[in-house]
Amino acid sequence: MKKEELMKIAKEAQESAYAPYSNFKVGAALLLSDGNVIKGCNVENASYGLTNCAERTAMFAALAQGYKKEDFRELAIFSSCNPPASPCGACRQVMVELMAKDGKVYIGNDHEISETNVSSLMPFAFDKESL
Ligand code: THU
Repeated sequence: MKKEELMKIAKEAQESAYAPYSNFKVGAALLLSDGNVIKGCNVENASYGLTNCAERTAMFAALAQGYKKEDFRELAIFSSCNPPASPCGACRQVMVELMAKDGKVYIGNDHEISETNVSSLMPFAFDKESL
């Protein structure tokens, strides 16, 4: 699947965002090895710290639907700001846990898509090999 196509699905997911406090809506789309795509959106809470970002929602939803982390291939993140929103530290740590180090991550908005990977987003990561 082309990155533009995956980003379009992330944009669709943005519409599901529950962000009444920040009004900052983010969508994510996780491509799996069988070609399916799982969507995620940010979900906020009146207790602000409980907010779940779009990226984590997508990864957690894929596990909940029976996929294994080994099935996780690429993750697209869509927001409407310019430059587009880069994943937060918590989401990067979860990517380290659940995606391959060379797993592609696309960060986009309506005008641009940048391409990176998990290890570039999270160098010197603390991971299960550290334990
Ligand atoms: N957010 C995401 O969902 N993903 C990101 O990459 C950056 C931030 C959400 C969290 C919160 O609901 C809102 O954007 C503002 O921080």
